[in-house]
Amino acid sequence: MSVAPSQACLLHFDDETAAAQRLGQAAQLPVKMIDRHRFPDGELKLRLPVDGAGRLPAHVVLLRSLHDPNEKLVELLLTARAARTLGARHITLVAPYMAYMRQDIAFAPGEVVSQQVVGAFLAGLVDAVITVDPHLHRVATLQEAMAVPQAIVLSGAEPLADLIAQRHPNALLVGPDGESAQWIAQAAARHGFDHAVCTKVRHGDRDVTIELPPLHAQGRAVVLLDDMASTGRTLAQAARLLRAAGAASVDVAVTHALFAGDALQALHDAGVGQVWSTDCIPHASNAVPMAEPLAQALRSLLPA
Ligand code: R5P
Repeated sequence: MSVAPSQACLLHFDDETAAAQRLGQAAQLPVKMIDRHRFPDGELKLRLPVDGAGRLPAHVVLLRSLHDPNEKLVELLLTARAARTLGARHITLVAPYMAYMRQDIAFAPGEVVSQQVVGAFLAGLVDAVITVDPHLHRVATLQEAMAVPQAIVLSGAEPLADLIAQRHPNALLVGPDGESAQWIAQAAARHGFDHAVCTKVRHGDRDVTIELPPLHAQGRAVVLLDDMASTGRTLAQAARLLRAAGAASVDVAVTHALFAGDALQALHDAGVGQVWSTDCIPHASNAVPMAEPLAQALRSLLPA
């Protein structure tokens, strides 16, 4: 069901114009850009796209995928607070990638539990959040991490599984660590893939040890599936072991293509062939569009 343009609009920043256009079209929402000026000292000046009366619609949807998150959190603070004063009564944050979800516990005294801090910060700004595969490990739901009145969590696992089924109908699906078991289960249930999950011990940012489960990789087209790749070391280590176990090919599918620094090179050096991702984070590997599921989630939150 579409929403009257006077009731809602989708706001975005210049670096997400293409994603905003796709989402606006899928959700049938007018798309408007927030003007952003950076002062010489690094501070930001934002200008929201108000109407002739200087007002925003009652329902504002804000698209901001939170990779490279630090400055974006300040943008969200400025935008959401100003939007309220300009007439927005309901603000939905569409953050296809949700940042700071991995630090969910203090591993050492004094360590900041970023998930709680960022979760509370965003919950204080917006009424609803839509995101995709937030990295929730020790909490079960997004609302435990972010006490926002409405939260919708989508997953890239099934659309990625559909792509894998087209490319390798008999793929052996492998999760690189225990946390990936949930996505492996979803994808395998959808297409009946053979599947297995490795175990991982992380020693540092770029240092992980992976152990393969009992599996027969010899001659198989293996696809490694995970929620995200950051340094790529998790997937690279798993790929190296799978190649050594005789896999005919090892490809990679992830929801969130963070691919920091030399991550892609590390994957290819480890024998990875194709790399596929959803377009939650813009990247050359994007092969699965998420605009339609995001729009569907939005429709369930916005007035008819
Ligand atoms: C953590 O368990 C996540 O699911 C990923 O496996 C992890 O963030 C990947 O990190 P990296 O690519 O740096 O190894």
